[in-house]
Amino acid sequence: MIGSTIVHLDTVDSTNNYAAKELLTKSLTEGTIFAAACQQAGRGTGLASWESATGLNLTFSIVLYPKQVEISQQFFISKAISLGVTDFLCKYVKSVSIKWPNDIYVDDKKIAGILIETAITGGKFSRAIVGIGLNINQEVFVSDAPNPVSLKNLTSENYDLNQILKVLCACLEMRYQSLIKGNQTILQNDYETLLYRKGVWAKYRDQNSDFEGRILEVEPDGRLLIETRIGEKRGFYFKEISFK
Ligand code: BTN
Repeated sequence: MIGSTIVHLDTVDSTNNYAAKELLTKSLTEGTIFAAACQQAGRGTGLASWESATGLNLTFSIVLYPKQVEISQQFFISKAISLGVTDFLCKYVKSVSIKWPNDIYVDDKKIAGILIETAITGGKFSRAIVGIGLNINQEVFVSDAPNPVSLKNLTSENYDLNQILKVLCACLEMRYQSLIKGNQTILQNDYETLLYRKGVWAKYRDQNSDFEGRILEVEPDGRLLIETRIGEKRGFYFKEISFK
């Protein structure tokens, strides 16, 4: 069960790093969470960092062993976790969406980021460390992170982080169960329904230039399919395209 063991930490570099180090010497029950009040080197995707003021947000990592998921279906882990976070947020706010591949947005602002790091042994996933940063009570963001927003910014309320984490764990567990039971159709459909800017003409940038297009779908391997203004269909893997 996700969150049946929650290890609360004061300060770490990154909860994903901490979980990886723990796994080197300990056998951890699936679903174990490492949650930190302060990350001194919180990591985003690629080279980005993750801003989170001490004690105001959720920054945590979950240890999972998704052995049932085929390597070629890796992106379904991303879908399940993104949906767990959106299921949770939909209880509090409207206009929640998933910006491909797995940024969580409310309207045009980013409220949560997900960093999944997997290891493969003998052709199977031996583990996944699922890092989630969810902005809860922070009101002012100082880094150059594009369009951050928190639950407090949106609702003017303060939240109890321990309580919030329990509700979030239940939402994540539901979607994780779908993943390991192989309910891919539900995950695929729900992910597509919540996809940010799906079917909407917007500006994108590939490795060379800007262009206008609209998102058609996300393929099972995570490739984003976009139709251009001249009716061409183009596929992009992560980092091959940016939203403008
Ligand atoms: C992103 O760039 O959108 C991904 C951000 C992921 C941030 C979380 S916070 C908890 C975990 N530990 C980290 O160092 N990063 C992830």
